[in-house]
Amino acid sequence: MTKLDENLFYVGVKHPSLEYFDVIVPTDMGTTYNSYLLRGEKTVLFETVHNDFSEEFIRNIEEICPLSEIDIIVCDHTEPDHSGSLGAVLSKAPNATVYGSAPALKNLKNILNSDFPSVVAKNGLEVDAGGFTLRFLSAPNLHWPDSVFTYVPELKTVFTCDFLGCHYCGELSDGDIEDREKYLAELDRYYKYIFSPFAAAVKKGVEIIRGIAPERVCSSHGPVLCAHIDDVIARYDEKASAAPDPDLASVFYVSCYGYTALMAKALAEGMRDGGKTVQVFDISNTDKATLAQAVSSSSFLAFGSPTLNRDALPPVYEVLSMVSAVADRGKPALIFGSYGWSGEACANLSERAKGLGLKVDEELMKVCFRPADEDLKALREKGRAFVS
Ligand SMILES: Cc1cc2nc3c(=O)[nH]c(=O)nc-3n(C[C@H](O)[C@H](O)[C@H](O)COP(=O)(O)O)c2cc1C
Ligand SMILES: [Fe+2]
Ligand SMILES: [Fe+2]
Repeated sequence: MTKLDENLFYVGVKHPSLEYFDVIVPTDMGTTYNSYLLRGEKTVLFETVHNDFSEEFIRNIEEICPLSEIDIIVCDHTEPDHSGSLGAVLSKAPNATVYGSAPALKNLKNILNSDFPSVVAKNGLEVDAGGFTLRFLSAPNLHWPDSVFTYVPELKTVFTCDFLGCHYCGELSDGDIEDREKYLAELDRYYKYIFSPFAAAVKKGVEIIRGIAPERVCSSHGPVLCAHIDDVIARYDEKASAAPDPDLASVFYVSCYGYTALMAKALAEGMRDGGKTVQVFDISNTDKATLAQAVSSSSFLAFGSPTLNRDALPPVYEVLSMVSAVADRGKPALIFGSYGWSGEACANLSERAKGLGLKVDEELMKVCFRPADEDLKALREKGRAFVS
């Protein structure tokens, strides 16, 4: 337990050994599940923590007061890393009412599988928490439909749950961080994995935070922000403003004997003739971060694989898994590949790409074994038409 202000306490827990969050997000610096207790004439708990840390969490709160004194529990977002221990808390907090958005309360009913006293935290609702005001500000899709910010004007403090957070288990306050470069690298990675599919919602979130101009941001992962709030907000703003380049096309392929590679080259030439900047990636020789960046920054995508044992090769599916079904939706995609006799790769990749919401060109560019001169000519023409 740590005091952040006369009446505001940090009661969160640390998870330094976490290697991956939500299965896929690398967390080299571990993470924290932050929670805060406000003690005025009423007692308010902001967020809870991951279920695995319920006992430690309850001990942290009990260092300050018995849970029976909690009047209000604010759930700004209900992903189980913040709601997992709510059931354990509620079992010891019979006087608590849960505040959350309508979708948040619906989620919580399905997470707890039981009923509990609750109030819908509508946008603009103000609640008197005994000398402190809770002002709820709707901020949907940051990063679930349920998300809300809660502003306490008397403390100039906003509680944002995941927004502006960071998987960084270290110093409590951003002003004390020693290795700021490392922190910012984690902050950028967190943004990419959690918030990059929601650029429009991020812009609105940035506007809300700028509008209230808080002096303290209590997110639910990583350090509390006091010293560098404007800097973090500017980073979010910049990233959310970076739209895909309308003139950039990326061609991704793998190839065992070089035949699909020849197809990739011809397609790229045609796209260049069509006036685009074209990047060609042999997936086997390219690191994942570069591939992911190419997917998100390009407006035209092409995927090529030979057919091996009646399917496309896994590295191409891996690049397709980097396509965001939210942010990359509707981007034109072209599928190509060399085959020997049955040639299933293109149709299978096409199905996967369609499932992700890409606008897949109906003409699958298939060539039996080595592309002949006329095949290469047709591919150049196709590349040009694809981007025109
Ligand atoms: C292990 C192996 C399995 C293959 N299985 C299939 C197959 O199921 N169907 C097919 O049409 N071609 C199959 N092929 C043939 C390749 O698709 C063909 O050689 C193609 O031209 C390779 O293109 P690349 O040089 O771009 O790798 C197979 C080739 C290998 C080496
Ligand atoms: Fe979340
Ligand atoms: Fe989270």
